[in-house]
Amino acid sequence: MFAIESFNVSKVYKNSNKKALDNISLQVGEGKISTLLGRNGAGKTTFIRICSTQMLPTSGKILIFGDDVLKYPEKIRQRISIVPQEGRPLRALTPWDHIYNWLKIHGEKKDIAANKTTDMLNRLDLYSAKDVPALNLSGGMKQKILVGMAMATESPLLFLDEPTIGLDPVSRRQVWSIIKDWKNKGVTIVLTTHYMDEAEILSDSIFIIHEGKVISKGNMNDLRGTLNYQIRIDIHISKTLNVFELKNLVDSFGKTINMSSDSIRLFTFEHNLREISEIMVRSNLSFSVAPITLDDIFVNLVGDKDMT
Ligand SMILES: Nc1ncnc2c1ncn2[C@@H]1O[C@H](COP(=O)(O)OP(=O)(O)OP(=O)(O)O)[C@@H](O)[C@H]1O
Ligand SMILES: [Mg+2]
Repeated sequence: MFAIESFNVSKVYKNSNKKALDNISLQVGEGKISTLLGRNGAGKTTFIRICSTQMLPTSGKILIFGDDVLKYPEKIRQRISIVPQEGRPLRALTPWDHIYNWLKIHGEKKDIAANKTTDMLNRLDLYSAKDVPALNLSGGMKQKILVGMAMATESPLLFLDEPTIGLDPVSRRQVWSIIKDWKNKGVTIVLTTHYMDEAEILSDSIFIIHEGKVISKGNMNDLRGTLNYQIRIDIHISKTLNVFELKNLVDSFGKTINMSSDSIRLFTFEHNLREISEIMVRSNLSFSVAPITLDDIFVNLVGDKDMT
């Protein structure tokens, strides 16, 4: 069974004449981490709001574990948890209050709720701040409260709408580790993020949403196929070559884009590497080689038209 199946879901907000979602049909595999990627305003949060029964679609149908969101919202709510993009903790309550009470509301007994709260606060490095009211916590610590609440319930389906926004690199990794552990327990996770490294590390499948439509989907390998190139070479201009001359020198090997005033990026194939390196060495240019990343694929699909 799929955790989520959507059929031609569209949404036009009341005060707008534009489609925030335009015929979205997709499937989210049970027990998988599926990531929605898209530029600001692409429709990711709108899709999550509809799946999590917070808002009705204008048309189309969504099944959550086989149940229609329009017919069985109460049943679905018992099986999901969400980190909402616009969420804020209550100012007067502490991290402990938020997570413990949330677990109690979800029906956990006192001692189990206390154990799970302690575990989650430790995992998020929040234990030492457990009794500090949210108004006296930093932005990232407040965000971690929201992540802790959603994840502590271990609901079968988790919606994480930019869960790591504002988190430091160590805290992000702590959240990644919980996400991976929960996946191993069989939890289905729907993630949105603007951090491409995060999406690349965590996702089993990725949906790229652009202007309310799914324009590409698959795992990293499938998406790599959309760019057609295998590697990228960042080349720095030298005293003797300007950007224009440098582009001319390597243009025939693939596609070039300007990265900054003193470097270009060449997308190309592995079999060209030797010849390109020889040219670089001859021209006394410094360069670095790396496989293409999700960032490259994303920009190619929805961004800089210069690259397409
Ligand atoms: N409450 C609302 N009323 C009217 N239009 C809205 C509302 N919420 C979102 N929209 C519009 O719907 C479209 C999709 O917004 P959405 O919040 O789903 O984007 P997103 O992909 O989550 O973007 P971001 O990455 O910035 O969070 C945008 O054009 C936005 O302006
Ligand atoms: Mg959003």
